[in-house]
Amino acid sequence: MRGGAGRRLIRWSVLGLGAVVATTALSRWANKRPRPSLPEGPGGSLGSVPAPRFSLLERAYAALAERVDHSLGWHKLPGYLGALILAGVRTTLRRKNLQDTWNLPIVGVTPPSPVDDRYLTARTSDGTFNNLEMPLMGSANTRFGRNVPLDKTVVESDRSLLSPNPRTVSRELLTRDSFIPASTLNLHAAAWLQFMVHDWLSHGQNDKDRVFEVPLDKGDPWPNKTMRILRTRQDPTRPSDDTGPPSFINVASEWWDASQLYGNDLPTQMKVRSMVDGKLTVDKNRLLPIDDSGIEITGVSGNWWIGLELMHTLFTLEHNAICDRLTAEYPTWSDQELFDRARLINAALLAKIHTVEWTTAILGHPALQIALRANWWGLATERVSRLVGRLSKSELISGIPGSDPDQFGVPYSITEEFVAVYRMHPLLPDDFIFRAVADNAVIDSRGFSDLAFANARKTLEKVTPENALYTFGTVNPGAITLHNFPKGMQQLTEPDGTLNDIAATDILRIRERGVPRYNEFRKLLHKAPVRTFEELCANPTWAEQIRRVYEGDIDKVDLMIGLYAETPPPGFGFSDTAFRIFILMASRRLNSDRFFTTDFTPEVYTPAGMAWIADNGFASVLLRHFPNLRPALRGVKNPFAPWTAVAGVAPQQTRPEFEPVAKPKAQPVQVSSRQPKGG
Ligand code: HEM
Repeated sequence: MRGGAGRRLIRWSVLGLGAVVATTALSRWANKRPRPSLPEGPGGSLGSVPAPRFSLLERAYAALAERVDHSLGWHKLPGYLGALILAGVRTTLRRKNLQDTWNLPIVGVTPPSPVDDRYLTARTSDGTFNNLEMPLMGSANTRFGRNVPLDKTVVESDRSLLSPNPRTVSRELLTRDSFIPASTLNLHAAAWLQFMVHDWLSHGQNDKDRVFEVPLDKGDPWPNKTMRILRTRQDPTRPSDDTGPPSFINVASEWWDASQLYGNDLPTQMKVRSMVDGKLTVDKNRLLPIDDSGIEITGVSGNWWIGLELMHTLFTLEHNAICDRLTAEYPTWSDQELFDRARLINAALLAKIHTVEWTTAILGHPALQIALRANWWGLATERVSRLVGRLSKSELISGIPGSDPDQFGVPYSITEEFVAVYRMHPLLPDDFIFRAVADNAVIDSRGFSDLAFANARKTLEKVTPENALYTFGTVNPGAITLHNFPKGMQQLTEPDGTLNDIAATDILRIRERGVPRYNEFRKLLHKAPVRTFEELCANPTWAEQIRRVYEGDIDKVDLMIGLYAETPPPGFGFSDTAFRIFILMASRRLNSDRFFTTDFTPEVYTPAGMAWIADNGFASVLLRHFPNLRPALRGVKNPFAPWTAVAGVAPQQTRPEFEPVAKPKAQPVQVSSRQPKGG
């Protein structure tokens, strides 16, 4: 770094550190003040949240952080400093990018009534009563929120919704010519993300009576004259004559409550439970049970493939192992008590793995290693947390789990913008070569369709879960970039026989839901818009292709195309623009949840449960249930990074921007439906 830049950096550093210390002190004081309530909006009788509280100093620090980010770029700073700048950036996002859709007109919604008092210390089947002041908050069948102001979410007319033609965008910009690997990750990272997405969100079944007819080019090999894409189901809680900003319903419980395993309603929950010792049902081979129509019985089984089957099987077994541990400790407990505690513990373990392992693998930058571990343990570190527990209520010092809840003035929900940026289908490969954990020998070779929907189980039984887990650990997912959409998803035959181009659907879907296009999105997330196609995309051939498809209008570039075209920060698996949504929402899922804040205690989780969460990670879960994976996990610092091939395989090529910054200082990790659609 040159002298001037170096001096500037030191000046910013000193200012930044001072501001953080002062901000922390002031926030602690602010926390003790009584909090005023929001005035009642149209949904007021449904409850409300405390008004947001951002001290003057916090705002000043956030403004400073934004300036540093704009002038120097957070990812060019040393790790700790980058993390501190990101903390300021997040404050601005918390202040300006949480938008309430509860205040849009609402009909036919009434507050739920509890059937008993279990909700006080257990997660309910549909996510109600997590927040005691607003029991519907975050529960299944409530609205998605927004990260951009509601007046910017206007749905375009049908004509501009189809412009440029989403099928053209799919074919010209997304078609995979040859597989581009994300070489710092293994394929579990892809399956894991879909597994998490199914916990947090689903728009439910699309509307069969309202269809987009997408015209096709003459040369398009699609078997029909037009491409039919069903529209998203309308929000039934909006008055029929309401023409305001659009809203949509999330049919999944939005909390990090492992609803993909336990279901989003009581009937589904009862189907997955064995009703003995708190456990979930598995068959004699320790696999998920199958219903009469050949579908796996689990919380959410939509968009099923072998990757999801592995995750669901693993964490169903983990639930049962937690039950065994609790039974040993508390032999008199009922099935219900064991189930409730095991669910809490399993869900928290998933949240921990995601925060400190998955995310640090896909965001392999030193600042993120610090920031994400700090989200869980605080800057005080895991070691201090293990030795003495929390030092302070501050999330910065001792992490979010166990801190005070904070809704930042807006009831918690997953947002439409979050859904849009997590459409990361390029992670999926098209070709799968299964190898044996015993000797790395090839045992089977399959295309995506052999692994999807009802075929998942057949292939899993043939190759065995152990070998499938090993294979997923040793191969790469696809890089999230242009020209890397899985061919199998660009022409996906769904279980009902319909043929869909999921790439074209992704593009149209984001437009349909009123999510702004790329440049507008950047501006609303406090990033400068890009001015040229070359600034957007470092690959000149691709930049030219984007220009052609969007007829030279940079402001028309779709969000997903812009996100895939950007060069991510060093070590990152996705773009900096998508990352803005990530830093806001990843911590919010914890900050808002009673079971990660007020009630993240030994009294609610049990001391054995707290220890289980502290002592485990993805690798220990894998090894508990599949101990033969040990040689492959040996020496692996992050279980979402490529594992050791038991007999060694040639390394795959790296996309330049995927090179880890501190190469190859691997991330520190302690081994310590056909239900509603979505994901
Ligand atoms: C790499 C892992 C995956 C990720 C991160 C992912 C993510 C997502 C997200 C965020 C959505 C939007 C959900 C909604 O709007 O409710 C979605 C939709 C969808 N995904 Fe995936 N998905 C993954 C894998 C798959 C797989 C394996 C399949 C098929 C077997 C699949 C099929 C679909 C379909 C059909 C939709 C609905 C498209 C629409 O109508 O909007 N996804 N995915």
